[in-house]
This record gives sequence, C-alpha cells and structure tokens, in this order.
Amino acid sequence: MTKKLSRGVAVVGVGMSKFGAFPEKHSRDLFVEAYQELKQSVQNGFDPKEIEAFYMGNFSSDHFENQAHLAPIVASWVGLSPVASMRIEDACASGGVALRQAVLAIASGQCDVVLVGGLEKMTDLSAARVTDALALAADTMFEVPAGFTFPGFYASMATAYLDQYHADPDALLKVGIKNHENGALNEKAQFGQRISDVMASKKAKAAQKGLPIPEWADEMAFMKDPKANPMIAWPLRLFDCSPVSDGAAAVLLVSEELAQKYTDHPIYIIGAGQASDGALAERDSLSSVPSAAHAAAQAYEMAGLTPDDIDFAEVHDCFTIAEVMATEDLGFFPRGEGWKAAMAGETARDGKHPVNTSGGLKAKGHPVGASGVAQVVEMWKQLNGLAGGRQLTPRPTVGLTHNVGGTGQTCVVHIFERRS
Ligand code: COA
Repeated sequence: MTKKLSRGVAVVGVGMSKFGAFPEKHSRDLFVEAYQELKQSVQNGFDPKEIEAFYMGNFSSDHFENQAHLAPIVASWVGLSPVASMRIEDACASGGVALRQAVLAIASGQCDVVLVGGLEKMTDLSAARVTDALALAADTMFEVPAGFTFPGFYASMATAYLDQYHADPDALLKVGIKNHENGALNEKAQFGQRISDVMASKKAKAAQKGLPIPEWADEMAFMKDPKANPMIAWPLRLFDCSPVSDGAAAVLLVSEELAQKYTDHPIYIIGAGQASDGALAERDSLSSVPSAAHAAAQAYEMAGLTPDDIDFAEVHDCFTIAEVMATEDLGFFPRGEGWKAAMAGETARDGKHPVNTSGGLKAKGHPVGASGVAQVVEMWKQLNGLAGGRQLTPRPTVGLTHNVGGTGQTCVVHIFERRS
C-alpha cells in the first residue's frame, strides 16, 4: 500500500549562514545567522512563539566543540525556550533526518509549526582530528581498525565503480569542475572560485613569489596535475573531496493548511523516504548505495512521480564518486551510465538532469550536520526563482534532496514541489 503523509507539509522560509572556516565563531553563532535569514525570508513574518518543536541535525559537537546537548542551548540562543528541542545524530545525514522527523511531527498532527536546523563547527580541530572524529560514523569495531578513513571508504567505492563499469576516472574530475562552477555562483559557498579562477590565483601567487609560473592547457590539465590537485586516496584527489567546514542552516515547516498564512510561495514536501544499511564492509557490492535506492523508491511512490519528473536535485557529493553513484541510485541514469552522463555534461545546469546547482557539498562546503538542511535552502531558491546567477531556466517545478550518512548506513530522500 502506498504510504502517504496523513497531512501535507510545506516549507515557508529558509536561511543559512555562509559556509567556510570561522575561527572566531561558535556553531550557535552560525545558527543565529541562519535563523535571522530565515526570519527575513518568511514573507508575512511569524511569531517565534508559534514554533512548537525544534529538530536539529548535528553530528558531533561533542568532538568538534567539546559541547554535547546542543539543541536546547541553540534553541535558547534564538529565543525559543521552552520549546521541545532535539538533536538528531545520523552522521552526515543528521540534517536530512531532522527534516524527516519534523515532517512526521507535522503529518501526525502533533505540531503545526516546526523549526528544522542543522549545524556543525568542524574547523577548530586539526585535519587529522577531524578525520578521526568523522571515522566514528563508520564501524569502529571492524572498519576503522583496518585503517579506513572517509576518503579511504569512498576511494574504495570509486575503485570498485571504475573497475566494474570500465569507467573513465576523468568523469570524477568533471564532477568537481561542474560543482565548483556552480559554487562560484553561490554567495554562501565555502569555495567561491571556479577551477579556472583557482588556476589564475595559483599563477598570480607564483608570479608574486618570483617562482616559475605553472602552465596548464585547460581545467582538466590542472585537475590531473599532482602538484595542483594532489592525490588524497587513490583515485580521489583534493578536488574530489568535500572540505572541512563550519556552517548552519534553518528551515521553517508548517502544515499545508497554514502555509498561505505565512507566504504566497510555499514549497510542498510531497515525498519522503529513509533507509539504512550495515557497514560498507558487510556489503556485496561497493559500486552503489542500496539505502539511497530504497529511500528514493519510497519518496517517488509517495509523490506518485518517477525520476524523469525531477527537474533538479541536490545530492550528497561528499566525494565526487558519491555524486555519480547517487545519479544512478536515484534512477536519473541506468547503472553504470552515471559517469558517462557526468562526462557529457548532463548534470550541469543546462543538462538533462541538473545536479547540485548550489555547488554541492564539494564547493558549497560540508558542515556535516547542516548539509541536509542546506539542501532545502537550494530547493527553496530554485523553485521560487531566487537562485540568482545559478537559477535554472525554465524555473523548475519539482526538486529532490538526497542526504547520506556515513557510506550509506543512512539515506534520506525528500521531494519538493511548487504550486505557484
Ligand atoms: N577541495 C578543494 N580545496 C581544498 C579542500 C577541498 N576539499 N580542502 C582544502 N582545500 C584547499 C584549502 O583551501 C587550501 O588552499 P590554499 O593553500 O590555497 O589556502 C589547501 O587546500 C590546503 O588546505 P588544508 O586545510 O591544509 O587541507 P588538508 O590537506 O588539511 O585537507 C582534505 C584536505 C581533503 C584531507 C580535507 O578537506 C578532508 O578531509 N575532506 C574530507 C572531509 C570528509 O571526509 N567529510 C565527510 C565526508 S563523508
């Protein structure tokens, strides 16, 4: 039997902080920024007293900031106490799962107005300590003692994928170039530079220091240069990896019948799915993420849509291979064809299936608990025609978010629609 939400849920406003490295700020400061922007975005305004619950995605403030029990603290900083405030931890899918819990709270009739937040402040720790903290999202009994880190996991998946489908590894570099191209058009992105801009600034720096000026024939030549784009875990290079980031995002959800009270331009959540899996070490194949296909099937069924009905998607490109696999798991391209589509530009803004118009995790940044919520910010912007230089034309009607925890132990998919 098709599962439906017992009542509709709408997004009526969104906000996010800039993503990047902010040594002078705490995660709560970043959330205040996101919340203030959210307040501005709700057309007819709202009284914070209307908010009945706060679901907040955060992977590991314990490790990153030496602060547990963050949700009530953050709620207090934006003046919400004594509203029920919960932190959701599902690794990099924490934000997407927080969104799902908020959707269910409204659909159940328990709440009418719910705030969803996501935040992470990662850059206070050294890269090595961040890598150790992130590795806790893997199986620490079997995988971590074998020496795996997250770049290592996704490198293994990339190796399996490239081998199984005889894929050209240049496809991964193309994903990086495309997402930096999009991120350069997003003022909130951690990396505001196209790869061609990065090349120009490296040349300028060399000239300034009186060093030989590097020459690259084009962006692909730069991406293949081991000095410019060093190997992190074969075949993944620096520009295949999402960065270590600080950032926060916030979204206001209300029941469908209340949506017009807040704005003339709500966007509706018409599909929701979530699935899980064991550790990567337990899987038969490393070249896809089964939980993503399961979560997507639930969301498509609820929405009564197929992959071809999706005008654009924000997918979890923590590494470039993850985007290629996601485009297959979500059904945009047949198995083994995602890399060809990336090579052919089909996921670019003017392609058949635009993916990660925000710059994705790769270029926008990946403050892990915030990423799933920031994806909704891009949904709002694209569906409402507010995405500036990266706006898709014609303005899309339906979009999809795909948020993955770990190597796919958790995956959450949501489908959004505009009706005006
Ligand atoms: N993409 C592009 N450039 C990056 C980058 C990335 N992911 N990470 C860092 N850089 C740039 C920095 O801006 C800096 O540039 P500059 O020299 O021009 O100022 C340079 O590379 C060195 O930065 P640094 O912070 O010293 O890099 P690092 O070697 O410590 O970290 C990675 C690089 C790839 C190891 C780190 O970004 C990483 O661990 N990413 C994966 C995070 C992750 O696993 N998230 C969870 C996913 S499931």
